[in-house]
Amino acid sequence: APRVFSGIQPSGGLTLGNYLGAIRRFVEMQDEGGYECIYCMVDLHAMTVWQDPAALTRNTRELCAGFIASGIDPEKAVLFNQSQVPEHVQLAWIFNTVARMGWMGRMTQWKDKAGKNAENASLGLFAYPALMAADILVYHATHVPVGEDQRQHLELTRDIALKFNYDYETEFFPITETVTEGAATRVMSLRDGSKKMSKSDPSDASRINMTDDADAIAKKIRKARTDPDPLPETLDGLEGRPEARNLINIYAALSDISAERAIANVAGQQFSQFKPMLAELAVEKMAPISNEMARLMEQPDEIDAILARGAERARGIAEPILKETYRIVGLVGA
Ligand code: TYM
Repeated sequence: APRVFSGIQPSGGLTLGNYLGAIRRFVEMQDEGGYECIYCMVDLHAMTVWQDPAALTRNTRELCAGFIASGIDPEKAVLFNQSQVPEHVQLAWIFNTVARMGWMGRMTQWKDKAGKNAENASLGLFAYPALMAADILVYHATHVPVGEDQRQHLELTRDIALKFNYDYETEFFPITETVTEGAATRVMSLRDGSKKMSKSDPSDASRINMTDDADAIAKKIRKARTDPDPLPETLDGLEGRPEARNLINIYAALSDISAERAIANVAGQQFSQFKPMLAELAVEKMAPISNEMARLMEQPDEIDAILARGAERARGIAEPILKETYRIVGLVGA
């Protein structure tokens, strides 16, 4: 059966980008049936840049609440945090010996995050994609739903699987498929249409947080940067208007229609007409999730119990795959 794996870093609040680009797709794949779904809070990845310990704990629980509030059912999907399944790190070490320095150095996320000061970046940040490959391949996952920004990492995951299979004359690791679908695989900042909507942007007005209440959501959309022209008839007319294009993509994704349909629906409208409609839609879709997250966060023990149970199920899958990997590479005792 096809197996789905994906992960999110508990490195701060969740954004509308995480929701539309990733979580919503996770829920769909869970509900479609026919997939075995494994969803992970990648706490060890988050630590590749400094995390305050208390904040890391809280953010991990909040992320779990976000998954559940969005419709992930911990009975159906396997839901857990990475550090409770040591097989991820154990396989990552093997992959550290497979991956090449040059491959890692070409990753745009590494270049963006390390910036000009690579000497001062953590070794973990450089090795990040090998741990990510291990997350996926320790379950022999076949499908990985992600936003656009993770495509390059998933190509690297395939390169690692291919090189491992070649080096050890095996076909043990599957070549995983990247799943990016829908109108919102790259949600942009509400303040700058050339930048990705991100939890690490210093401006809170640049993003909608999944914990924002109805007022905050509506206000941020009303204040979103736009241009003075009315909306065009077709998507071609949005060329060179990244902020407008972004709002149309958000509108399309929230209403579950294509961007083509979305622009046809609102053709000719002024932003003064379009934005209040979009704000209402965003509140209608997102406010119930943020309310449910707040409710779940009042029961941290229950969240911890869900994660512990998920980790146990995850280990049941990962353990034999790691053991077989150890055997293939010749480690005594495997
Ligand atoms: P992370 O934590 O940055 O983001 C989690 C997911 O949300 C998507 N996303 C977006 N999609 C659309 N528009 C945006 N503005 C936006 N911002 C974020 C991301 O593409 C991602 O799907 N390296 C990963 C975490 C990871 C992982 C994995 C993912 C670790 N191991 C294994 C898949 C499989 C990351 O940093 O995602």
